[in-house]
Amino acid sequence: MSEALANLLNETRQFPPPAELAANANVKADAYDEAAADRLAFWERQAGRLTWSQQWEQALDWSNAPFAKWFVGGRLNVAYNCLDRHVEAGRGDKVAIHWEGEPGDTRTLTYADLHKLTCQAANALTELGVTAGDRVAIYLPMIPEAAAAMLACARIGATHSVVFGGFSADALTNRIQDASAKVVITADGGYRRGKPSALKPTVDEAVAKCPSVDHVLVVRRTGQEVAWSEKDHWWHETVETASPEHTAESFDSEHPLFILYTSGTTARPKGILHTTGGYLTQASYTTHAVFDLKPESDVYWCTADIGWVTGHSYIVYGPLSNGATQVMYEGTPDTPHKGRFWEIVDKYQVTILYTAPTLIRTMMKWGEDIPAGYDLSSLRLLGSVGEPINPEAWIWYRQHVGRGELPVVDTWWQTETGAIMVSPLPGVTEAKPGSAMAPLPGIVADVVDDQGQSVPNGGGGYLVLKEPWPSMLRTVWGDDNRFLETYWSRFGAGAGGGSGDWVYFAGDGAKKDDDGHIWLLGRVDDVMLVSGHNISTTEVESALVSHPSVAEAAVVGATDPTTGQAIVAFAIPRGSVESGGEAGEQLIADLRNHVAKTLGPIAKPRQILLVPELPKTRSGKIMRRLLRDVAENRSLGDVTTLQDSSVMDLIASGMSGGK
Ligand code: WT7
Repeated sequence: MSEALANLLNETRQFPPPAELAANANVKADAYDEAAADRLAFWERQAGRLTWSQQWEQALDWSNAPFAKWFVGGRLNVAYNCLDRHVEAGRGDKVAIHWEGEPGDTRTLTYADLHKLTCQAANALTELGVTAGDRVAIYLPMIPEAAAAMLACARIGATHSVVFGGFSADALTNRIQDASAKVVITADGGYRRGKPSALKPTVDEAVAKCPSVDHVLVVRRTGQEVAWSEKDHWWHETVETASPEHTAESFDSEHPLFILYTSGTTARPKGILHTTGGYLTQASYTTHAVFDLKPESDVYWCTADIGWVTGHSYIVYGPLSNGATQVMYEGTPDTPHKGRFWEIVDKYQVTILYTAPTLIRTMMKWGEDIPAGYDLSSLRLLGSVGEPINPEAWIWYRQHVGRGELPVVDTWWQTETGAIMVSPLPGVTEAKPGSAMAPLPGIVADVVDDQGQSVPNGGGGYLVLKEPWPSMLRTVWGDDNRFLETYWSRFGAGAGGGSGDWVYFAGDGAKKDDDGHIWLLGRVDDVMLVSGHNISTTEVESALVSHPSVAEAAVVGATDPTTGQAIVAFAIPRGSVESGGEAGEQLIADLRNHVAKTLGPIAKPRQILLVPELPKTRSGKIMRRLLRDVAENRSLGDVTTLQDSSVMDLIASGMSGGK
């Protein structure tokens, strides 16, 4: 491990939970001991939070590892657990979703309303010939119908494959074809950045190449003109006229619930398969534990899109299985103005907010005056997910959104893990800014070296998961070999050499600090090798962002004849900072020295470019691949998954002029 890595351990600030939250927390410190004493019994207790129509016989069948079966022999219905049981318990009038459209239109759905819509959609899908085991593609904006469509599939045992509404026709086509989806559920369009953005033409283009699709169900959201074929059915004419009576049938605990394709900025996307009982158990438990969700009093808001796993687990299945009241927002954070998020928090008196570091850094860039203009006093807990959160961004979030008081839970997990794995517990953990801290109760994670040996405190290496967990992926759809190769062949039994246990390779670099707490360092392919030293892109980015003049930064390793790789940084200066001409040159020099001082001379970037924006995927991940193309003077690769492709022109012109 490099000295540079050791330097990030200088982050020593620590924030204990607020006393009142700690005293009333859903999950207290004893959960760790209980789970350590008997991990399977612990998960069986969490499975018991759900309603099963038939009790399981065995908690875990690992005899065909790494293909797991959880709660073997148990039967349940996911939609029943998310809806019917709350309605049956007399909570039908409780608000499930406060929906806010981007243009400012609103809808309120109670549990009874969402139950009715889901039952109607289940009947309509059945009418269209969908039966248990069939795949249904969902390509919708962030409207309540998206949740109802997913739940309707779950209700009838159809496996949904949600495709993010920002994806192109090609991406949609590949995903429909890979899963042979029979039905596509879409809309005419949705609102993004202040205007209607069409979806139906993309579906038309995809469906033309997908013979497996028999029917397309179309929600009318924007009222845009749409082309129409005999496969098309309006949602309001099909679903909303269907019977609201539907009895949920139970399915085997291992029945396929959904396929979700990993965002994949490079290779062919993988269809990650999740099943029923184990997935819902862990999605539900982690919502209860990590967000300390109190369904009677909390208003929860996860700002993710339903097209990502965060939306699956922490908008649909986790919150609804717990009977939460939540906010769902259709649009972008700066439409019609940069205070939109805070306006929504204020309006619905949101108590729990779960968002992503990229958004937090964007808010930092816009300035703290914006959140300061709203009443955020309802908030009591803040969460972060999606990438490592720089200590600066963590502190800003706590300070300017959390009144300097609220716990921030930095939650590490993946599409593949299905639910949160490494995170503080808000009522227990003394959180350190930038650290996901420790595996949750029932999870066994570690940091290992190249040989798969557990590293001592202070050491760095790869994050691995050493025991199976209920919401783990079951395979890559249609490709067991890729499942084995990608996740299980790096360490442990699957690596050969018969070293015994199966070890899941997450693909993330990580380190343990002197207290044994876990710090995520980004994807392993985001680790640079400079003169034989491992330096993580995240660390250098953190160092840059800790400089008062920098709002956001991205770092890549570019091939270098002398050092192997050299560090090239792209930095967005804060709004008020002078960055042209000589002032810019001076800032670049200051920043190089600042990084050298913070992380050590080895981490000093060879080159820093001041840029107005960074290239991001629609899920907010920085596309380092494109920055590497720029840094190595190559022509750009595929830019189709970029949120805004014009960004690259700005950056490339800065590169040629600004050396
Ligand atoms: C990758 C998974 C998990 C839902 C959203 C992303 C990175 C995620 C954190 C975190 C550091 C994080 C990892 C992981 N990641 N959360 N709290 N700290 N890194 O799902 O698209 O499957 O991406 O996101 O690199 O492997 P995904």
